[in-house]
Amino acid sequence: MKIRLILPVLAFFMAGTISAAGADGIRKTESSEDREMDRFISALMRKMTLEEKVGQMVQIPANFTTGPAVRTGNYIKAIEEGRVGSMLNVEGVAATRKYQELAMKSRLRIPLIFGKDVIHGYRTGFPIPLAEASSFDMEVIERAARCAAREASAAGIHWTFAPMVDVGWDARWGRVMEGAGEDPFYGAAVARARVKGFQGEDLSDTATVLSCIKHFAGYGAVIAGKEYNSVDMSMGQFANFYMLPYKAGVEAGAATVMTAFNDFNSVPCTVNGDLLRGLLKDSWGFDGFTVSDYASLGEVVNHRCAVDRKDAARQGVMAGLDMEMSTGCYADFLVELVRDGSVPEKFVDDAVRRVLEQNRLGLFEDPFRYCNEERERTVIGSAKSREDALYVAERSIVLLENENNFLPLSPDIRKVALVGPLSKSRYDMCGMWSCADQSRVVTLYDAMMERGVDVLYSDGYDLGTGELKDTSLTMSYARQADAVVVTIGERAENSGEMRCRGDISIAQEQQALVSMLAASGKPVVVLLMCGRPVIFNEAREAAASVLCTWWLGSESGNAICNVLWGDYNPSGKLPMTFPLHNGQIPLYYQQKSTGRPESSGWWHSRYQDIPNGPAYPFGYGLSYTTFEYSAPELLSGDGEDIHAKVKVCVRNTGKYAGEEVVQLYVRDDVASVTRPVKELKGFRKIALGPGEVAEVVFDITDSQLGFYDERLEYIVEPGRFTLMTGGDSVHLRSVDFTL
Ligand code: GLC
Repeated sequence: MKIRLILPVLAFFMAGTISAAGADGIRKTESSEDREMDRFISALMRKMTLEEKVGQMVQIPANFTTGPAVRTGNYIKAIEEGRVGSMLNVEGVAATRKYQELAMKSRLRIPLIFGKDVIHGYRTGFPIPLAEASSFDMEVIERAARCAAREASAAGIHWTFAPMVDVGWDARWGRVMEGAGEDPFYGAAVARARVKGFQGEDLSDTATVLSCIKHFAGYGAVIAGKEYNSVDMSMGQFANFYMLPYKAGVEAGAATVMTAFNDFNSVPCTVNGDLLRGLLKDSWGFDGFTVSDYASLGEVVNHRCAVDRKDAARQGVMAGLDMEMSTGCYADFLVELVRDGSVPEKFVDDAVRRVLEQNRLGLFEDPFRYCNEERERTVIGSAKSREDALYVAERSIVLLENENNFLPLSPDIRKVALVGPLSKSRYDMCGMWSCADQSRVVTLYDAMMERGVDVLYSDGYDLGTGELKDTSLTMSYARQADAVVVTIGERAENSGEMRCRGDISIAQEQQALVSMLAASGKPVVVLLMCGRPVIFNEAREAAASVLCTWWLGSESGNAICNVLWGDYNPSGKLPMTFPLHNGQIPLYYQQKSTGRPESSGWWHSRYQDIPNGPAYPFGYGLSYTTFEYSAPELLSGDGEDIHAKVKVCVRNTGKYAGEEVVQLYVRDDVASVTRPVKELKGFRKIALGPGEVAEVVFDITDSQLGFYDERLEYIVEPGRFTLMTGGDSVHLRSVDFTL
């Protein structure tokens, strides 16, 4: 007997209608402010010409582009005539003021909205999102987004195209660096925290910006991890493994949603009415506006789903795409399409109303309220921003190996052989999608010198060619030093958009260098600087200790030194599985049992030539201290929503104070459909002094037990479940529970 818990999402299959907004675009209102806003916008829309309405659906790139360059024509004239709603990549009080003044020359003086990819910090660079996600601390995540919003808004920016919430199982896909990793439950928590950080409690606060949930939907599942490739999955697969972060971001109040480049159910997302109007707007009640990705509306022609850009424009507005980024399909054809009856004007009205409602920013009252030179001067790069960046960077580092507890470096280690050009690279510490002021990045070398360490520095390899260099000098320094610290990894341009790789191994030369250094007999500390899970088996075998430091932004060097010397005890956990071999990819922990479960047995799911298991599993990360877990104990629920509770005691059994991410995984032991062997359904970061014990209790409710079916109905089936707790997705202890 199945328990159907949430009404069928029938609207998903009623795409193409406008139910949330009435025929004339009047939308349901809740508060007096909403009613006042509705009256204002309705009155404004009654004055608008069709050309001015379509103008609000147009976003143009001003100077540099973040995609294939497209013509934008004489956009100055278009702005003055009220035919542009938003601009991309205009930043700085002076520049935004200049363009806003042009918009104020238009007949109805509708303000421009300025948007930019503020993905991980603005001028003060923060760790890349995948690094921040390693903190498993929502306060850390929110604090980072809040600082980014504070600085970006001080530069006149109203809207960031973040958070990217695409679940990623495939480490070959370079954009995993922008997300929160492989788990939908965790990705949903991060999405909520980042939306809250960017938007705060009130968007009229000039220290906040509009957020953007992207890329809707399923972009992280591009086939073979190849950029811009097709996506093909069942609705059940989408709902259970990819959907939740998008839905969480919308429920958190995200102001905008960006469509993905890929197709979904064989329809390009940018013109996919089932997704945009059916699921997002009607079923989830999204009341913000949708924006295409860069050129993705015009690219529907390349998908061979539109005969030309005019056809693409027609499909986009009918599907629920409210604003187009950069290819001008709406600007060139939408007026004509309405005039010739191809597109009912109510579809334009719905889109325009949604865009105008972003006046929650207060721009109609004062179009220049984000143009404050004093604020720009004092907020951007402030000590507060640096403090936030260091706090977040320290908590983004993951300790992967620590043989003989070599770390933290003892205070009497004064002479350090520091090897590797990434130790001095301001550019690479920023990662891709960076807005950071590189001149103010603190590198590891800077921080060690600042700390008074006696540094014997050598490159060891050439950052450009990758070839080994200075080998005899490097080995000589290693022999002289008390400890060897070597930085290996990717360059900032090796992960991110258009940075997919068929081989995610770290360069052989870098790994060989680690082996050579280890042969010197001195313990070697490897610092892995990367934007994705990477394969580095030789280096990690040779190293005494390995810290995954990702790309940590402006405070990289200080954060790494604080961890090396134990000022901060690393607490990060991996948000993505690290494979052992390229052939295993995509490798993720939520595997299904299959009819012949993984084992070394002959007739079982495995490879002939490589192991099944990862180098490091999801949720894994060490500490300078150790934690001991009790067996989980099942407690009764409240007889209503909480079916049961599971309690686990955690003791700090080491000599350092530290933080631990206590994780809850659930397995639906027998179900009507195949279910993963385990799924993360709870996490709690706790701090414990040496010898201290904490009790952690997780509620077991429907949201820990159910799954979505093909019709996107959420179903909980009675039966036996296995509840597992521990410090990563492998080292777990379990208790049975029957619903
Ligand atoms: C890019 C990215 C998207 C970004 C947009 C604007 O192509 O796909 O994430 O927000 O263009 O720069």
